[in-house]
Amino acid sequence: MSTSLALASGSAAATRELAAALATVCVPGDVLLLSGDLGAGKTTFAQGFGRALGIDDPVTSPTFTLVRQYEVAPGPTGLRTLLHADVYRLDHLGEIADLGLGQLVEDGGVALVEWGDAAEPVLGSGALSLLLETDPDDEGRRRITVTGAGESWDDRWSALASALGPWTVAP
Ligand SMILES: Nc1ncnc2c1ncn2[C@@H]1O[C@H](COP(=O)(O)OP(=O)(O)OP(=O)(O)O)[C@@H](O)[C@H]1O
Ligand SMILES: [Mg+2]
Repeated sequence: MSTSLALASGSAAATRELAAALATVCVPGDVLLLSGDLGAGKTTFAQGFGRALGIDDPVTSPTFTLVRQYEVAPGPTGLRTLLHADVYRLDHLGEIADLGLGQLVEDGGVALVEWGDAAEPVLGSGALSLLLETDPDDEGRRRITVTGAGESWDDRWSALASALGPWTVAP
């Protein structure tokens, strides 16, 4: 079974919509690693994801705070908190580990980590990785590659693939 999906987004609104669709498949304990260049759309993704969880506060860039925490409205996902982190400024894996995201998600949380690819050695086992890439010919387009690691994502892969079906393109 494939554990990688290629998506196409034609606008910031589409990236928010696909993030919202993905949120419906997430469960407490999930860690999503968001990577891609400056302005690729990582925070935009987090905004759509947060909206789907009923978070009213605007989800803004956590660049200077490192981790922002939002309360999730009670719902079918069982999620209680959304953690939104940006590890761009952290140079050492130890500093990322010190954020304690692994423990925080264990208590009913889901974590979205911008620049998360760098964090893979400390957060990566069982994470879902999303790589957002711009298109040099169209400033509104993004290609988003979603890769699942671990049994938990294997088990949910068909649910994930169907939730993201409207945005799926050939790899
Ligand atoms: N298809 C798209 N998906 C996401 N964002 C898009 C898209 N098309 C245009 N944009 C615009 O690109 C910008 C993405 O900014 P955003 O802050 O989400 O990026 P980021 O990856 O979080 O950047 P940083 O690395 O600085 O944190 C926004 O201004 C958004 O409106
Ligand atoms: Mg950002």
